[in-house]
Amino acid sequence: MTRDSRSVASPHVVSIADFRALAKRRVPRAVFDYLDGGAEGEVTLRENCRVYEDVTFRPRHAVAFADCALCTRVLGFDLALPFLLAPVGYSRLMHTVGEVGAARAAGNAGTAYILSTISGHKLEDVKAASSGPVFYQLYLLCGREAAEAAIERARIAGFSALVVTSDTPVAGIRERDHRNGTKELISGTLLEKIPFLPGVLSHPGWLASFLLDGGLPALPNVVIPGQGPMPLIDVAASLAESAITWSDLKWIRDLWRGPIVVKGVLTGDDARRAIDEGAAAISVSNHGGRQLDCVSPSLRALPEVVKAVNGQTEVLMDGGIRRGTDIVKALCLGARAVLCGRAYAYGLAAAGEAGVNRAIEILRTDLDRTLRLLGCASVAELDRTYVNVPRNWDTD
Ligand SMILES: Cc1cc2nc3c(=O)[nH]c(=O)nc-3n(C[C@H](O)[C@H](O)[C@H](O)COP(=O)(O)O)c2cc1C
Repeated sequence: MTRDSRSVASPHVVSIADFRALAKRRVPRAVFDYLDGGAEGEVTLRENCRVYEDVTFRPRHAVAFADCALCTRVLGFDLALPFLLAPVGYSRLMHTVGEVGAARAAGNAGTAYILSTISGHKLEDVKAASSGPVFYQLYLLCGREAAEAAIERARIAGFSALVVTSDTPVAGIRERDHRNGTKELISGTLLEKIPFLPGVLSHPGWLASFLLDGGLPALPNVVIPGQGPMPLIDVAASLAESAITWSDLKWIRDLWRGPIVVKGVLTGDDARRAIDEGAAAISVSNHGGRQLDCVSPSLRALPEVVKAVNGQTEVLMDGGIRRGTDIVKALCLGARAVLCGRAYAYGLAAAGEAGVNRAIEILRTDLDRTLRLLGCASVAELDRTYVNVPRNWDTD
């Protein structure tokens, strides 16, 4: 039994919050805060999680089912679970198995994995690791030529959909990263690094595996023509130079010719626009509270988007999912499925692939139990009749 599997087998690891605590111990503060933190005052980050408390259940008692069906269909793919693993950049810093381990865990659980552009592993290796569908999340880092090459590679490797993230015209300011000296640690001189080194040196286990893995990876899927993989340090500046706009979407569609998900929609207007531009699905998201602070929590934005879409495309959502009850509430409000970000990434940071497997299992058993307690036989039957929603959610 490896150290990773031992730590997740502990009877004390029963919730995603337990994984968050384990992750906080295993990785340096700069890595943990990169994963855990949000933009500016972290208002949206907090609200993303808290808002689930505003929705309460209306169970149907005195019914019992031998089996509850958790399966759903997203973009024509049959998934065993109504949640996918969201794109999480720099996953290889959290654990060396990174994106490969997360994709394999998703495939083994019968669900889809979405690979971030900011991956430390080659997209071909990530695809090969998973037995399930894998989607590619696209930023236009380093411009159209680099994106075109990545899209072509993703098609050849067998990726099933493109997820175009629309909420990142510049990187949000994550104040914890500044305080932790993340920039200095990545690209500073030795003198600039010194104040921040104790936080890294105090995690020798993580540091040893990070160094054995080759240290800070360049981005193997963002290949600058004539130069090679993009260095990690250039990401924030490059994001600002290569923001995705609606006019890029047609170009992306013509290149890809497969299903496209527009991620980062928070209003009915943007949802309609995404449909007009040919999106096959829309993902309601505020990037886990990491971009514009003080936008609506995702669950709160969901009803407006579902109404505007009016069944024309599938609606996914992400933000703040930490429990099966959160997933059930989002499905009741009209999401076809949800994307989990930190919920599995805490598992990855805490215990690598074993941690992701266990995080998925926690959410799966949560879901099954919640459906039974609700008196609902399948996620396909979940609707508004199973929840109380604050009245003003539908009127404004
Ligand atoms: C550490 C971290 C890195 C992320 N990197 C990306 C990314 O590269 N591309 C992207 O579209 N979204 C990215 N996201 C946002 C997630 O895909 C997702 O929208 C968000 O995590 C959902 O909120 P949750 O973490 O509360 O589940 C990232 C999120 C986190 C926490």
